Amino acid sequence: MVKTDGKIEVAASIGCGVIGYSWALKFAMAGIETRAYNRSEASSDTARERVATSLASLVDNGVYAEDEARAIEGRITYTTSMEEAVCGAQFIQESSAEHYEVKHELVKQLETYADPDVVIASSTSGLLVTEIAKYAEHPERFCGGHPYNPPHLIPLVEITKGERTAETTVDEAKAFYQAIGMEPVVLQKESLGFICNRLQMALYREVANLVLTGVCSVEDADKAVTFGPGLRWGIMGPSLVFDLGGGAGGVAGLMDHLDDSITLWLKDMATWTEFPKEWGEVAQRGVDEELSHRTPETGDTPETLAAYRDHMLVEMLKLHGKL
Ligand SMILES: NC(=O)c1ccc[n+]([C@@H]2O[C@H](COP(=O)([O-])OP(=O)(O)OC[C@H]3O[C@@H](n4cnc5c(N)ncnc54)[C@H](O)[C@@H]3O)[C@@H](O)[C@H]2O)c1
Repeated sequence: MVKTDGKIEVAASIGCGVIGYSWALKFAMAGIETRAYNRSEASSDTARERVATSLASLVDNGVYAEDEARAIEGRITYTTSMEEAVCGAQFIQESSAEHYEVKHELVKQLETYADPDVVIASSTSGLLVTEIAKYAEHPERFCGGHPYNPPHLIPLVEITKGERTAETTVDEAKAFYQAIGMEPVVLQKESLGFICNRLQMALYREVANLVLTGVCSVEDADKAVTFGPGLRWGIMGPSLVFDLGGGAGGVAGLMDHLDDSITLWLKDMATWTEFPKEWGEVAQRGVDEELSHRTPETGDTPETLAAYRDHMLVEMLKLHGKL
């Protein structure tokens, strides 16, 4: 494996749908010459439009001046030729459809043109890297690089390994993601849902439980997160928050101090492993009610809510020095 220490000048984003276009944009935002591969011209046109829309939003939010946005756009080359996309690329991010057959076919095509020591990271949300690279000539250079939507804004990327992934591949992927301003975390072993989806679902299970048992409304559960712990979690993770909460005793002291109380809460909390069938409808009614109480500025329709989220996200990322 060639050590690049994350210094990549040419990268390829393969399969530029919802996630792949955003990866291409992220690479270009980091100053990298980027090849964006799609199977058809029509898909490339959609990716091009999505890049333009996302950049317009970044300009509107004061992240880039017009000429900077045009320079970023100019770093992306759209192609339907795998050879053109992959030859000479120093890092390859694959974001095709979430099926083993599709990934297997792509692995074959990618390896036809990619240098043998180039890292190939899959955006897969749940397929096993071992299985994706099953027929690969160089399985050691494959890893997972799971982003959160949209990767050009959300810094987290979860790096996963297959049984034959080389440690140097993980190191290379980590260095690359760090170099483009992302925050990689490495899963030391395979775990369904990776880290973040498990955390999200642990919280969301308890939201459903609280609402379904009549403790609070969907709206109040959302408020409780947004204006309570969610504000702190946007700054630092739960263990650091509790470390501060524990005062001189730190997180260890806090756990010790609250032990009896926490045990009572935990015993009363949901432990079920399937969401109750009625939850979807209950949640939707709650969300519709909640939206009717919001303003256009903070989002009272799915469209204005998305615009509000993107604006706030950009402001928070600026505070984190990520934009
Ligand atoms: N959407 C998300 O929120 C999200 C988040 C994280 C990871 N992911 C993962 O990212 C990957 C892509 O998801 P998406 O939501 O962007 O899907 P998508 O359907 O929007 O895009 C998939 C792209 O792959 C292309 N494609 C499909 N089959 C192909 C093939 N045989 N050869 C070449 N290209 C092919 C499609 O034309 C399309 O451009 C999946 O592995 C998914 O699990 C998605």
